Amino acid sequence: MENSIEALRAEFINEIKAVDSLNDLEQLKVKYLGKKGPIQNLMKELKDVPQEKRPECGKFINDLKVYLSSQIETLEISLTESEEKKQLENEKIDISLPGKKRFVARKHLISQVLDDLLNIFKEMGFSVQYGPDMDTDYYNFEALNFSSDHPARDMQDTFYISSNMLLRTHTSNIQARIMETEKPPIRIVAPGRAYRNETITTRSHVFFHQIEGFFVDKQVTFADLRATMDEFLAKFFGPDVETRFRPSYFPFVEPGLELDIGCISCKRAGCQLCKQTGWLEILGAGMIHPEVLKNGDIDPEIYSGYAFGMGIERIVMLKYGIKDIRLFTENDLRFLQQF
Ligand code: DAH
Repeated sequence: MENSIEALRAEFINEIKAVDSLNDLEQLKVKYLGKKGPIQNLMKELKDVPQEKRPECGKFINDLKVYLSSQIETLEISLTESEEKKQLENEKIDISLPGKKRFVARKHLISQVLDDLLNIFKEMGFSVQYGPDMDTDYYNFEALNFSSDHPARDMQDTFYISSNMLLRTHTSNIQARIMETEKPPIRIVAPGRAYRNETITTRSHVFFHQIEGFFVDKQVTFADLRATMDEFLAKFFGPDVETRFRPSYFPFVEPGLELDIGCISCKRAGCQLCKQTGWLEILGAGMIHPEVLKNGDIDPEIYSGYAFGMGIERIVMLKYGIKDIRLFTENDLRFLQQF
C-alpha cells in the first residue's frame, strides 16, 4: 500500500506541473480528491490491510491528502493572481479617448414658464387646481353662459367626442366645476391643456396650454382685477411693464376685456413683433357674469368676482422671441436644449 501511495504522489506532482489555468486546476482537484478519486479508493482498501499496519497506512493516506490539498491551494492562489493581472492589463484605460457627453434632462420650456407663472400666483394667495381635459358641453360652454348658437360651439373649433363630450376648448371649464363645489372666498389658478380644431400654423395649434384664474368673494371689484393683473405682469415681465385694458366680449364675463402690455421688444416705439402698434395682447379677463355665479350656486346679490385666462405658448413666444408655435411640440433637441 505504501508503494501505491508514493506512486500516486509522484503522478500528482507530475500532473500539477502542467497545470496553467484555474480551469485545469479544478479538474485536477476533482480527479484526485473527488469522491471517485484515488484517495477515496485507498481509504476503501484500508480495510484489507492487516490490523497492525492499518493506523500507519491510514496516516500515510491522510498525509498525502493534506499534501495534495495544500499544493492545489497554493497553485490556486497564484493562478488567481496572475489571471486577474492579465484581465487588468486588457482593461487598460486609454486616457486619450474623448469623454462621453452626459445628457442632462430638464423641463420643457412650457413647463418651466408654467411653474414660474403659478409660483407668482401662489405668492399672491392663489391656490392651484386642475380639471379634466375631456369634459361635457355643460362645463365647457353652458355653465359659462355660452348661448346654444354661440359661434365657439361650432364644430370647426371644438373637437367633439360625442354629442355631449368634447375636448375642452379652454381651461375655463375648471372655473365652472370649482364654483359648484366650493364656497367663496375662492381664489384659484387652474393650468392645463386646451384643444381647438384649427389649422396648424406658425401661430396656432390644435392643442396649447392655458392658465385660468378667478377670485370670488364679497365686494370684489374691477379695481381688484386691475391691481392683481398689474402686480402679476410686473413680477413676470419686470417692474417697468406697461398695461392697457381694452373692452372685449366673452360670454362668461361682464364687462369683458383684453389686457395688453407695452411691447417688450420696442418699448412701444413700434416694431414687427407688435405689428407697429406698440402693444401686445396677453390675456382675456373680466368680472364674472351673474349667470355664471348662479350656475355655481353662488348668489350674485352677495358675491362678485373677476376671472382671467391666458395662453401660455403666446406668452412664452413673446418673452423668448420664438416665431413658430410648432417648435414646442416637435421635440427637436436643437430647440429644446436652448432653454
Ligand atoms: N377662455 C378664454 C379663451 O380661451 C380666455 C378668457 C377670457 C378666460 C376672459 C377668462 C376671461 O376667465 O375672463 O379665450
